[in-house]
Amino acid sequence: MNYQIKMSRRLQQIDAMIGQSYQHIWDCCCDHGFLGLSLLKRQAADTVHFVDIVPALLTQLEADLKNHYGQAQNRSSWKVHCSDVSNLPLASVSKNPESDNHLIIIAGVGGELTIKLMKAILSQFGHYPLAFILCPVHHNYKVREFLISRQLGLIAESLIIENKRGYEILHVALNTAEPISIVGSKMWDFSQKEHIHYLQKSIKHYQRIAKNPLQDVQGIINQYQRLLAPIDSAY
Ligand SMILES: C[S@@+](CC[C@H](N)C(=O)[O-])C[C@H]1O[C@@H](n2cnc3c(N)ncnc32)[C@H](O)[C@@H]1O
Repeated sequence: MNYQIKMSRRLQQIDAMIGQSYQHIWDCCCDHGFLGLSLLKRQAADTVHFVDIVPALLTQLEADLKNHYGQAQNRSSWKVHCSDVSNLPLASVSKNPESDNHLIIIAGVGGELTIKLMKAILSQFGHYPLAFILCPVHHNYKVREFLISRQLGLIAESLIIENKRGYEILHVALNTAEPISIVGSKMWDFSQKEHIHYLQKSIKHYQRIAKNPLQDVQGIINQYQRLLAPIDSAY
C-alpha cells in the first residue's frame, strides 16, 4: 500500500476537517480521486464513494483502486460511480440508507454548480441525516446564501490560501443549530496577512461589480466591510 497521493493544501485541509467516522463518504466531482484515496487509506468511512461524470477518469481510478486497495486488505470498502452528482445513488447503498450517516464532499467546482448539485441532492434526500463539505471555486457568498436559505447549520469552516487564491471550506449539516454566517465567521484569522488580503480582494471584487448599476451588491460590500472595520481601526 505505498500508493502515493499528491494532495493540494486545500484537499489536505478538507481531509483534516473530517474528524468523526462516517458510514458513507461521497467524494463528488472526484477527478483523480486524491481526496477519497486519502480517506480510504485512513479508513475514515465504512465505504468511500468516488463520483465523477467523466468515464475515462473513473476507469483509471478503478484500476488503481483494484491494484492498491483490494477489498480484502482493508476494513473500508470503496465504490466508483460514473454519474452526474445530481443523481447520487444514495438510496441504493445499504438496507437502511436513511439512517446511515453520509458525508457528501463537493469541492473544486464553481459555486453555481455546487448550488445546483446541492439542490438536486436535497430535493431527493433532504430527509437523510446528511453532512456536507463544500469548497467552491468562486461565488462563496451565493453558496452561503443558499445554505442559509435551506436551514443548514455550521459544523466548521476554514480558509485556505493556495497559489495566492483563497478557498473557503464549509462543513455543514442538516439538523445543526449553529448558524452559517453569510461572510464567514470561524474561518477568519486576521493575525494572518493572507486572510486580510483575501477579505480585501473579496470587497474589491464586489466593488467592481457595483459599477454596473443593474447589480445591487452594496449590501454584500457592507457586510464584508464590517469584518474589516476592527482591523482598520487597529492601524
Ligand atoms: C477540478 S475537478 C475537482 C477535483 C477535486 N474535487 C478537487 O477539489 O480538487 C472537477 C471535477 O468535477 C467533475 N464534474 C463536473 N461536473 C460534474 C457533475 N455534474 N457530476 C459529476 N462530476 C462532475 C469533472 O469531471 C472534474 O473531474
